[in-house]
Amino acid sequence: MIDLNKLVKTGNNTIDEEHTHFLTYINNLYSLIEQKADKDTISAKLSEMILCAREHFRHEEDIIQAIDYPDTLKHKREHERILKTMQLAIIQCREDNSTYLLENALQDSIEAWVLTHINEMDIPLLKHYYQQKGKEE
Ligand SMILES: [Fe+2]
Ligand SMILES: [Fe+2]
Repeated sequence: MIDLNKLVKTGNNTIDEEHTHFLTYINNLYSLIEQKADKDTISAKLSEMILCAREHFRHEEDIIQAIDYPDTLKHKREHERILKTMQLAIIQCREDNSTYLLENALQDSIEAWVLTHINEMDIPLLKHYYQQKGKEE
């Protein structure tokens, strides 16, 4: 389970709410695994999480477009990578009879990547955004 208090804020309310929402999805998935929920329930929740991630990444990419940002490509590639990991987790979840692989994917890839991504890419992006916006005003 992720302690939501550990989430570092970017200073943009929409983005911060979406991050909280996303981490809540991950925690919901941990709960479903713990409750030994069936495959359909788990993969439905994973699909919802992917939709939520897509929308969130789109919002961030709109922010990237609005400014002159040096790490545009790197940031977008990381979004793609996180989406791919989640898509792979869905496939594994549907094919595999145990939730072992999904649990591993959540812990080793999805949770770790998302938290690292927020700290190392989203925080600097929003900092850059507010710096540029501050200069323009
Ligand atoms: Fe991002
Ligand atoms: Fe983000």
